Amino acid sequence: MFSSRHPETLKGLVDELGPLARVGTVAEAVEFGDVVMVVVPYTAMEQIGRDYGNALANKVLVIDVSNPIERRDGAEIVKWVDDHGGAGLATAKYLGPHVVRAFNAIGYAKLSTDAHRQGELVGVPIAGDDAHAIDIASSLIREIGFDPVVIGGLAMGKYLVPGTPLGGEHRRPKSGRS
Ligand SMILES: NC(=O)c1ccc[n+]([C@@H]2O[C@H](COP(=O)([O-])OP(=O)(O)OC[C@H]3O[C@@H](n4cnc5c(N)ncnc54)[C@H](OP(=O)(O)O)[C@@H]3O)[C@@H](O)[C@H]2O)c1
Repeated sequence: MFSSRHPETLKGLVDELGPLARVGTVAEAVEFGDVVMVVVPYTAMEQIGRDYGNALANKVLVIDVSNPIERRDGAEIVKWVDDHGGAGLATAKYLGPHVVRAFNAIGYAKLSTDAHRQGELVGVPIAGDDAHAIDIASSLIREIGFDPVVIGGLAMGKYLVPGTPLGGEHRRPKSGRS
């Protein structure tokens, strides 16, 4: 289920994806999914936490793709996030303990060509505190043709922001170490 506060705008996208794809409101998507992916400007996080934080805390996995970016979201929110341990720990304050940060620094336009790449898969660094949530995230990421690389707990989530060393695309080191 793809959601928007204006679900009618997603009809064209979902029609192209086939019969299993559906459109819903944000509330319907939160209700529908065992796994919920949150891909919003970081300024929306507080309101989403207020409205859906309890429901999201009960999901097995909440994938946080969102980043606090000063030029878009403002200096105040970036400072708030920094003061709360960075994106990751800050997101978990709003969305609960099953947050895993993933896909934060791969541009959306590259996902379809990067997926299932021949040879070495594209690595997706992920960070989370909940082992079960990490396991589910890892298997979903493998299923869609990427190589999940756990870099640590949510405190490491702040390094999964564009412009930090783990932003952009990476391959697993030749030794196979992650
Ligand atoms: N674009 C990329 O390639 C990319 C890559 C990696 C990470 N990210 C991160 O992903 C996040 C979204 O980026 P984007 O480029 O997709 O930005 P965007 O187009 O501005 O935002 C995505 C969607 O968020 C929804 N949204 C905004 N406020 C909301 C709220 N209060 N409740 C529910 N939904 C809300 C909007 O949907 P409606 O208005 O339809 O409700 C909007 O279409 C950012 O934090 C960004 O840093 C983006």
